[in-house]
Amino acid sequence: MNVSETIKTRTSLRIYDDRMISDSDLDQILEAAFLAPTAGNQQLYSIIVIKSQETKDKLSKSCDNQPFIAKAPVLLLFVADQQKWFDYYKSKGCEAFASREEGLSWEEPNESDLMLSIEDTMIAAQNAVLMAESLGIGSCYIGDILENYEYHKELFQLPKHAVPISLLCLGYYREGHKRVYRKRFDKKYVAFEETYRRLSDEELDDMFAEKASGFVKGPAITADNFAQAFYKRKTGAAFSKEMARSVRAMLRSYAGTQEDEA
Ligand SMILES: Cc1cc2nc3c(=O)[nH]c(=O)nc-3n(C[C@H](O)[C@H](O)[C@H](O)COP(=O)(O)O)c2cc1C
Repeated sequence: MNVSETIKTRTSLRIYDDRMISDSDLDQILEAAFLAPTAGNQQLYSIIVIKSQETKDKLSKSCDNQPFIAKAPVLLLFVADQQKWFDYYKSKGCEAFASREEGLSWEEPNESDLMLSIEDTMIAAQNAVLMAESLGIGSCYIGDILENYEYHKELFQLPKHAVPISLLCLGYYREGHKRVYRKRFDKKYVAFEETYRRLSDEELDDMFAEKASGFVKGPAITADNFAQAFYKRKTGAAFSKEMARSVRAMLRSYAGTQEDEA
């Protein structure tokens, strides 16, 4: 498959063949991640390969109870990682150097370091997705890894400047698998020319019309429209609240305002 075909045929896969992913396929997937563009060629991420059934079972619960996670032969945990670089800086005397050098000062990893490492991490992850797809291996991201920060930190022995950003389920397609292509918004509402354009209420209605057409008001449905129903199911739901709490805890730990000095 060429890249264009790979991009166009990929869909998220949540049912996997039982076969374990071969070492050579896994190596190619990891290699693809490593070859992704990376800020300053720093590779500001770590990738934890998970095959242990016990760990997969734990993650299927801690990531908003999604049983299919436990059935994926391999999970890749993508960690935004400034820890290695800062440990290296420190081991090489960069703190003292920065303090004595004109125009330089020492700073612990900050918000922009975190953001940059997240960019690196997700670009590497998507390269892995595309390589996997080209090898007949389907994948599904799990955003809920952002929940339960303290638990995941402990489970993977993460120091505070290595944060779990994305979990990727990987597994071969089962024979006869039917792909379901999920529509995207119309291009005019997503790609703007030169500057951002705030959409009017009418444009928003048009943008969401297809999604909204699936909403059916029934006696047991308290929402009056698609937006209310979606907000209740996703953005305002309990798992989103846990995600917000967890990310705030991660940010506090990252900035070192918590006692946690791991
Ligand atoms: C950041 C991110 C988080 C996601 N989290 C989940 C998840 O927790 N569970 C799940 O089943 N799918 C998850 N997905 C997959 C999306 O639901 C899927 O990409 C989307 O519905 C579009 O479908 P497609 O990938 O088949 O085109 C996630 C995707 C992304 C990019």
